[in-house]
Amino acid sequence: MPDSLNPEIFAAEVPYYEPTGDECDLFVHAYNHNLPLLLKGPTGCGKTRFVAHMAAKLGCPLHTVSCHDDLTAADLTGRYLLKGGDTVWVDGPLTRAVREGAICYLDEVVEARKDVTVVLHPLTDDRRVLPLERTGEIIVAPPGFMLVVSYNPGYQNILKSLKPSTRQRFLAVEFDFPPPEREAEIVSRESGLPVERCRPLVRLAGALRDLKGQDLEEGVSTRLLVYCATLISSGMRMERAILAAMIEPLTDDPDIRKALLRVIDITLG
Ligand SMILES: Nc1ncnc2c1ncn2[C@@H]1O[C@H](COP(=O)(O)OP(=O)(O)OP(=O)(O)O)[C@@H](O)[C@H]1O
Ligand SMILES: [Mg+2]
Repeated sequence: MPDSLNPEIFAAEVPYYEPTGDECDLFVHAYNHNLPLLLKGPTGCGKTRFVAHMAAKLGCPLHTVSCHDDLTAADLTGRYLLKGGDTVWVDGPLTRAVREGAICYLDEVVEARKDVTVVLHPLTDDRRVLPLERTGEIIVAPPGFMLVVSYNPGYQNILKSLKPSTRQRFLAVEFDFPPPEREAEIVSRESGLPVERCRPLVRLAGALRDLKGQDLEEGVSTRLLVYCATLISSGMRMERAILAAMIEPLTDDPDIRKALLRVIDITLG
């Protein structure tokens, strides 16, 4: 039996991820057919954890890059560096992933500079090649290589959305917060707080999420719920933990803050 399927190793090494739909199945199909995958969804809803879980489950190495607005194609592909008087080529994370046949995960891909799409396009159609302009090398991606990218369509402005010619090279799956009972299980498992004490927090998160769009840019994430439950589990008073993990991170506006506090009173009584 391959190590990745050995139940003991599996339990020890595969990061915990609770599916919310058929996303694991889709990932396996995409991986088996060399198709790139785009994950869309709000912050803190499990996209990064999902990729880590799937890579471990498939026994595939994972290279993750958090994209930012200064990230260039050369940061991904590599560059010549001076080493002891010599100029040597050093692969970037994308090139390493292609050579190794690994999964490359570009988080917040829309943040990256426009020249990044030039290297992604030939890799994400049926050519599956990475041309290294500076060295003249053209690397053909082996079957194990997979490109996964994610972005949050919520707060990124239109100028930063992906061009159709880029997004239509990917299969796409939308992530959202899990249904309440499942989210309570996730929060409990991640924080150690008993599930019955997580349920009211999840209910509160649902009420706060309903304000998204009117007063708030983003609703409370599962990540913040886990923080909140972790504080309570380590002995902090619930009201204090909610303030630190579910109110203050959402807004700096005193009026909105007051409105959020009212939602707590109404929801938790
Ligand atoms: N389905 C899930 N199964 C297990 N844990 C989850 C799940 N969803 C969220 N979490 C928890 O929420 C935390 C945040 O998730 P993650 O970092 O994957 O979010 P993300 O979608 O990548 O956010 P961002 O867009 O900000 O990078 C995880 O560390 C984990 O504790
Ligand atoms: Mg992430």
